[in-house]
Amino acid sequence: MEISINGDTYLVDSDPSELLVWVLRDELGLTGTKYGCGIGLCGSCTVHVDGVATRACITPLVAVADKEVRTVEGLAETEGGLHPVQQAFLEFQVPQCSWCMSGQMMTAAAFLSRNPDPSDEEITEAMTRNYCRCGCYARIKVAIARAAQLTRELP
Ligand code: FES
Ligand code: FES
Repeated sequence: MEISINGDTYLVDSDPSELLVWVLRDELGLTGTKYGCGIGLCGSCTVHVDGVATRACITPLVAVADKEVRTVEGLAETEGGLHPVQQAFLEFQVPQCSWCMSGQMMTAAAFLSRNPDPSDEEITEAMTRNYCRCGCYARIKVAIARAAQLTRELP
């Protein structure tokens, strides 16, 4: 079946019931999407499906047949350069091991697209289901606040 990822159309061989995370990683080589818990809890596999933060480890391929998938590899393309979230995570040197980080950034980017001027409490609430075993939570929140500022300054 055909799926649209990061603006390109791919013809994939995987069974329609295959989980999106394995189609991305194993069939298409888009390994920026990470596998953590496998049960929709940790957020490390988060991608966008029609702009909505979605857990690829519990989403079958067939569920995205007529939708636009965006992975961390395509995040920058939305803004022509680094996405504000990527810029801010780089600026604040957020990652430690980085396993959770693509999911953190994809969740944050989807959140800021809906709310570009969030309060600290709203950032905390938006990110509460993305876990980081390295405990980078303080830097993640500061970086998202900075990304919000950068988003608001976009022309
Ligand atoms: S691997 Fe998908 S939510 Fe944990
Ligand atoms: S940076 Fe290591 S799990 Fe988040």
